[in-house]
Amino acid sequence: MANMWWACTVLVLCSAFGRGHDGPRLSLERLQPHGGFAHPSSSPVRFTFAPIIGKRRGVVMQGFWLHVSRRGHEVFNRTFTTQLPVAEVQLLPGRYQWQVQWFSTDGEVSDPASSDVVVADSGGDVWTGIPWMGANDTNEYEAQFDLSGSQSDQVELLVTTLGFGYVQINGQDVSQDILSYAGWTRTDRRVLYRNYEVTKLLNSTAGGHLFVALGCGYRCDPKGRFPSYKDPAEGSQDTVPKVFRLQMRINGRLAFHTGTPGAWRRRQGPVTQDSVYDGEVYNPRAVGPWVPSESLPVTHGPPGAMVAASFPGVQVTRVDHPISITAPAPGVHVVDFGSNVAGVCQISVPQAATVMLKHGEVLQHTAMPLKKIDPSRVYFDNLRSAAANDTLILDGPIQNWRPRFTYHGFRYVEVYGFPGQLTAEFIERLVMNTALPDRVNVTLSDEVLQAIHMGSKGVQRSNLMQVPTDCPQRDERLGWMGDASLSAASLLAHWDYNHMVSAFLDSMVDEMGTDGSLPDVVPFQRFGGRPADLSWSAAFLENLWQLWQKDGDLKPAQKHWDSVKAHVSSLNATYTAAGNVTKLPQSYGDWCPPPRTPGGQATETPPAGFTSAVSMLRSVQQAADLGTALGGAAAKDVESMITWHKNMLGAFHEGYYNPVNKTYANGVMATYVLPLAIGAVPATELQAVSQGLLKYIADHGNTWTGGIITVRFLFDVLHDVGAAATALSMLQKKDYPSYGYMYFNAYEPANESMWEVPDAPNRGPGMNSRAHHMYSSVGHYLTARVAGISVSRGHHVEMVVGQLSQVNASVATDFGAVQFSWSRQPSLTVEVTVPVGILAYLFVPVADGTMRLRSFDGQPFGEGLHSVVAGSGKYRRFTVPSGAHTMAVEREAVSGEFIV
Ligand SMILES: *[C@@H]1O[C@H](CO)[C@@H](O)[C@H](O)[C@H]1NC(C)=O
Ligand SMILES: *[C@@H]1O[C@H](CO)[C@@H](O)[C@H](O)[C@H]1NC(C)=O
Ligand SMILES: *[C@@H]1O[C@H](CO)[C@@H](O)[C@H](O)[C@H]1NC(C)=O
Ligand SMILES: *[C@@H]1O[C@H](CO)[C@@H](O)[C@H](O)[C@H]1NC(C)=O
Ligand SMILES: *[C@@H]1O[C@H](CO)[C@@H](O)[C@H](O)[C@H]1NC(C)=O
Ligand SMILES: *[C@@H]1O[C@H](CO)[C@@H](O)[C@H](O)[C@H]1NC(C)=O
Ligand SMILES: *[C@@H]1O[C@H](CO)[C@@H](O)[C@H](O)[C@H]1NC(C)=O
Ligand SMILES: *[C@@H]1O[C@H](CO)[C@@H](O)[C@H](O)[C@H]1NC(C)=O
Repeated sequence: MANMWWACTVLVLCSAFGRGHDGPRLSLERLQPHGGFAHPSSSPVRFTFAPIIGKRRGVVMQGFWLHVSRRGHEVFNRTFTTQLPVAEVQLLPGRYQWQVQWFSTDGEVSDPASSDVVVADSGGDVWTGIPWMGANDTNEYEAQFDLSGSQSDQVELLVTTLGFGYVQINGQDVSQDILSYAGWTRTDRRVLYRNYEVTKLLNSTAGGHLFVALGCGYRCDPKGRFPSYKDPAEGSQDTVPKVFRLQMRINGRLAFHTGTPGAWRRRQGPVTQDSVYDGEVYNPRAVGPWVPSESLPVTHGPPGAMVAASFPGVQVTRVDHPISITAPAPGVHVVDFGSNVAGVCQISVPQAATVMLKHGEVLQHTAMPLKKIDPSRVYFDNLRSAAANDTLILDGPIQNWRPRFTYHGFRYVEVYGFPGQLTAEFIERLVMNTALPDRVNVTLSDEVLQAIHMGSKGVQRSNLMQVPTDCPQRDERLGWMGDASLSAASLLAHWDYNHMVSAFLDSMVDEMGTDGSLPDVVPFQRFGGRPADLSWSAAFLENLWQLWQKDGDLKPAQKHWDSVKAHVSSLNATYTAAGNVTKLPQSYGDWCPPPRTPGGQATETPPAGFTSAVSMLRSVQQAADLGTALGGAAAKDVESMITWHKNMLGAFHEGYYNPVNKTYANGVMATYVLPLAIGAVPATELQAVSQGLLKYIADHGNTWTGGIITVRFLFDVLHDVGAAATALSMLQKKDYPSYGYMYFNAYEPANESMWEVPDAPNRGPGMNSRAHHMYSSVGHYLTARVAGISVSRGHHVEMVVGQLSQVNASVATDFGAVQFSWSRQPSLTVEVTVPVGILAYLFVPVADGTMRLRSFDGQPFGEGLHSVVAGSGKYRRFTVPSGAHTMAVEREAVSGEFIV
């Protein structure tokens, strides 16, 4: 039997390097950090780049030159002899240019590449003495300025606009950032500003015309839904919702600002009404006269600390054209953009008219609980109080108008009153979101899995809107913490979300009570309570922990360590007050499980407090992990947490487990999945509980029956107990209830989106977003365990050849793209590209054949022929060196020898 495997197939490797010198010159990509947002001055700036080696044999980086300058003066210039494309440099606050060039072992040198980086002024001192400007019933400002500079001068604009707002110099936007430069924070705690280099926009004496337009954002609303722009303190002087603060600095020196006397004028502009939820009314006839404008007294305006924004702004990230336009009634056009995402329409109107655009997610259909159904018209009821309506009152033609102070979540728009026939040349959709580069593209050889992947990524993008919002269309769009917790791992897998979520963590700390409690929604507006449901406040530790797991970034945990301790104390107080881990409070729990019949009542829930206990245990575990990783005093801090966690985990098992029938609590899906997910099941019971879960699934239509918390962990749990095939077949289903049903149902197939409730077509308008990210947690499973590629600690990549016949995946890292694809047509071929600096492991199923790998220069590499059990199955693991490699299974030619 020992010779059996000689007859097996053999996987051999050849390298693209061997195929001739067809590659480009040495080059670079993905420079980080890049301009557009600031880096905190408290820690060194981490410079990374991706050395592109092309497809050439044996090219290895030997080192690089890093040059940093400020206004033409050298600040840093050093040669690094290393194969890791990373350098950390401590820099004083300011704007820098940096340049990098790398060289290879054979003496070749890359072209230089350069980028800007801003290091933030940490104390906000740069704003001392600079007043806010704002007035009630005013939304436009202008000023002429002349800094009397020369062409070699560098001019920066530091600016914040509240609520929404934008700035133009000499008729041009100062940045591609839209909605607001300020993000969305609690402005009595922190106000974000941005720093733009505007030198190129100025005239030859560094002067010109400044224009500022403001909207409500989250600080005012015609219907009073955002009432709390005032800080809660008595006697607040933050009384004007639309305010801004700006300064221009020439070569770092203050030259012009909102307090410059006599410079400013203001007026009521053409936007007569604006609301995040309702849209904008644009009426050029309503424009008032310019009048002189005074700044507010220096003690007035939002009192929070001025902090440089450390993550990208919202930008137009794609332009979509209509896929169809119909005219179902006189004066009404219905435009279909083909997918349900966040953005606004840009429209041209050829002559005077009053034109209204009302945005919706789906067309009416027969499954809807509606009295009257017109399938040619758009459904709006699920927007609740959000009018999602932009209105233009025009006395002449207009070109390329778009609203600036709102956004909508929509696939369809009903256009009323367009003069003549509306055609695609008049209207397009500007897709908008916080402009995070994506981290992964995956193509899976299964249409259902592919639709879910695109839906998960798409719905998350639509909710990257300054904070991670729940949904982009109805009267919410809030930083719901439960969603931010459940999606954390998949957001970090799909997007360069690290800077954005770090800022969101700052906002959580802004909302933390003195008792360490957190609210359900951050910033705390409109809905939710305090203290939060424990599965909602779990967002705090979940995001800190995932940043460490995925990016190896412990800085946010370090920065917020006191808040971590305060929060764990509040968990302890909740636990002590409840008296038992099985009696914890819960307001939402395992939200939105699929009802047995679409449109019916959801029945399957674990007992109240079950998900709270799971989330508390997970949070305390994560705090303990982070403290241990931080070391020093933090490691000491967590000693008592570790003991507490251990006791609580035991009490959870004791309190919920029935050793006779081998189930926890009432034996619904959540009660199998969640104890397995948090490691509460003792080794002796693992087999029985895992089998219980599989039986439960088989008895319940081979699909999921739990809510958002269950589904977040379900597929990973199945994978880890060796049932990856079950997970995959559940995900490949198209019938109700399933993820596939969202994309392959007869009523309203989703595209680039994901529903809030599993039976959306049949449910009423109350809580029925068609673009909600709370179920998007599955995206992580699809990339990490179906496509099989995952990155941890920023540079450790695992690639596992999975069950599908064909997969193509590309993952961005700081050091460049990792490519991973395989095909089993007819026999296994694997292609891998690994950049310099990445530690990569490849796992190939033993079942695909016995193999031996060697590198392009004939040296054997890695730990081949080393079998491991990882997740679901038995694999051989290889360490893959940098370079582009192709491997194919081939028939063993000669018995007794390897093909190599
Ligand atoms: C960096 O310093 C070296 C000398 O050590 C010099 O040759 C090189 O030109 C400098 N680089 C830049 C970009 O100034
Ligand atoms: C703006 O209006 C509010 C509410 O009416 C009022 O309290 C406040 O004093 C006004 N602020 C200014 C600067 O006019
Ligand atoms: C630049 O703009 C400022 C402000 O509008 C104006 O005063 C100045 O004359 C302009 N300079 C030139 C050279 O056009
Ligand atoms: C859109 O908004 C305008 C202004 O508020 C309002 O007059 C109009 O009735 C709205 N149209 C629709 C279709 O809701
Ligand atoms: C994914 O594809 C998009 C569109 O082609 C591209 O812009 C992006 O860079 C890709 N990202 C990765 C990580 O491959
Ligand atoms: C939790 O609180 C109790 C009493 O309030 C205290 O004795 C215990 O040390 C606390 N546990 C932790 C881990 O802080
Ligand atoms: C906690 O509650 C469970 C039942 O839910 C019970 O079995 C257990 O004895 C309780 N523990 C304590 C310490 O009261
Ligand atoms: C196991 O027993 C408990 C307690 O009697 C019960 O609540 C639960 O539903 C049972 N589970 C199953 C799967 O029968």
